Amino acid sequence: MGARVGLFSLLLGGVCAQLEVMVDSPVAAQLGSQALLPCTFTVANAPISPEYLAVHWYFQGQELASYDDSLSISRPGVSMDTEQLASGNASLVLHNVTVSEQGAYRCLVIHSPDRGEQSLYLAVLAVPTVAIPSKAVLRGEPNLLKCSVSGFHPADIAVTWLRAGEVLPASPLPAPQRNPDGTFNVSSSLTFQPTEQDQGVAFSCQVQHAALPRGALQTDFQLVFGVSPMVNIHAPTFVQGKAQVLMCDVKGFYPEAIAVNWLLNGVRTEAPRVNPNGTFNLESFYQFKPVAESEGAEISCEVQHETLSRPIVRSVRVHLEYEGTQVSVIVLLVSGTVSALAVAGVAFFLYKRSRAARQMFTASDIVGPKVWVPGEYVSLVCIGYHCSAGTEATWAKCQNEELMPIARGDPSGSDGEEQPLVPINSLYKVQTQMLPLDKGSATLATTLMFRVRSPEDLGARYQCCFISKDGRTLSTKEFGDYTLRPSAQTQGPAVDPAAARPAEE
Ligand SMILES: *[C@@H]1O[C@H](CO)[C@@H](O)[C@H](O)[C@H]1NC(C)=O
Ligand SMILES: *[C@@H]1O[C@H](CO)[C@@H](O)[C@H](O)[C@H]1NC(C)=O
Ligand SMILES: *[C@@H]1O[C@H](CO)[C@@H](O)[C@H](O)[C@H]1NC(C)=O
Ligand SMILES: *[C@@H]1O[C@H](CO)[C@@H](O)[C@H](O)[C@H]1NC(C)=O
Repeated sequence: MGARVGLFSLLLGGVCAQLEVMVDSPVAAQLGSQALLPCTFTVANAPISPEYLAVHWYFQGQELASYDDSLSISRPGVSMDTEQLASGNASLVLHNVTVSEQGAYRCLVIHSPDRGEQSLYLAVLAVPTVAIPSKAVLRGEPNLLKCSVSGFHPADIAVTWLRAGEVLPASPLPAPQRNPDGTFNVSSSLTFQPTEQDQGVAFSCQVQHAALPRGALQTDFQLVFGVSPMVNIHAPTFVQGKAQVLMCDVKGFYPEAIAVNWLLNGVRTEAPRVNPNGTFNLESFYQFKPVAESEGAEISCEVQHETLSRPIVRSVRVHLEYEGTQVSVIVLLVSGTVSALAVAGVAFFLYKRSRAARQMFTASDIVGPKVWVPGEYVSLVCIGYHCSAGTEATWAKCQNEELMPIARGDPSGSDGEEQPLVPINSLYKVQTQMLPLDKGSATLATTLMFRVRSPEDLGARYQCCFISKDGRTLSTKEFGDYTLRPSAQTQGPAVDPAAARPAEE
């Protein structure tokens, strides 16, 4: 190639040209690497005389570098080895190549009275990064799988989806998005309805791009059969100036990674929380102290999960109760998901509570996961509303007709601060959160946390008991409706996650 280009130069320079300039073109360089733009020259019938020599490099009409007695560089990251000039090497080096440096360069060599020049093209290549952001799918439903390809250059790219080596029909690839550094991103979508036969089968996202060493890159993965969470928000009666506890009850999801956010009038109030490992249920509490302006405010619990294309949002509207007035708490159930597992549309539930009812003690059912896996942690939650001063929450385990008191949730502080997990013994931890309401009444939220054991938890029922100051049992709730799964070590959590879905309510 150099010879052909040189001949061309010779013709340009005229029949008696003494100077021949040669380049290699095009040149390809990886983004961020050091690129050599090769330009060499020969002088016929004479040695190269430095006093007759000048070299100029141009890019986009601008002079990048020049040598004329001394070297002059117009911007950082560019260099030329002047010691090489005597041997006819006028190559330019670009350190840390960027996408904006792609294009045509001109190497002009003058050896008085002769001159010669050549153009060369630099192509900047950036290797794509491939990621499958979510492998979780819902069984028997059309799922959207995405393959995110980022940071590549040039823009030309092909993305192919494969199932066990067979090509799957994907949506047409959208136009790549340009990043600030000039590289591109694109996301390929595949709508796929998985069945049992897809379990354990290798799926791949194959990318073909000029920057890839072997022209293609394949990312293999297996589908994860997920279950969307069911979300409920529980709110107490709102009283101005009194701290309240709201609970967001998130049930039956898989895989376990999940984020729960609390929003006040649509504005996030807390950083997302990720649940502890190994649970399929999560209870998130939000402490709220209404002021007069809180009337009509909307408190929401927002749940994000891999199986949801949009978060599930459950909201409560604040209706403050004043002395002698009727209480009404409107619970708005807003479905923010397209998943068939969630409630469709918008439903309104109106709860009316009389003044008498407000003052009566009530306890929630125990909330806990429906599938227990030995070795994994389980947390059971029970909430007592309108507890009078001195009310305590206790937990007990009932097995083979024998009742064993296991832990006592005794709130040491009544300032509404969250208590640390108190180790009762090596097996159980209890956290009781107490929030005072008016006239010595309070909301008590008690959580029992423990590691599931087999056979110790086979057929066991757990009881949460609220006891008044004078020792009366106010309420006893029992939780025994769960399935003890075979050990996680032998089966792993990915096996039949659909079993994690609790019974429809
Ligand atoms: C020309 O000089 C560069 C350094 O500027 C060097 O990397 C390259 O190998 C040289 N080319 C030849 C043909 O000597
Ligand atoms: C290379 O250039 C990029 C973009 O200008 C810059 O972010 C990066 O820090 C540079 N790297 C080095 C090693 O200089
Ligand atoms: C491209 O993808 C990268 C990595 O996933 C991401 O950080 C970046 O924000 C994306 N750029 C655009 C323009 O979406
Ligand atoms: C939770 O899981 C992550 C990774 O899956 C692990 O790094 C972390 O130690 C686990 N935490 C607990 C409390 O088991």
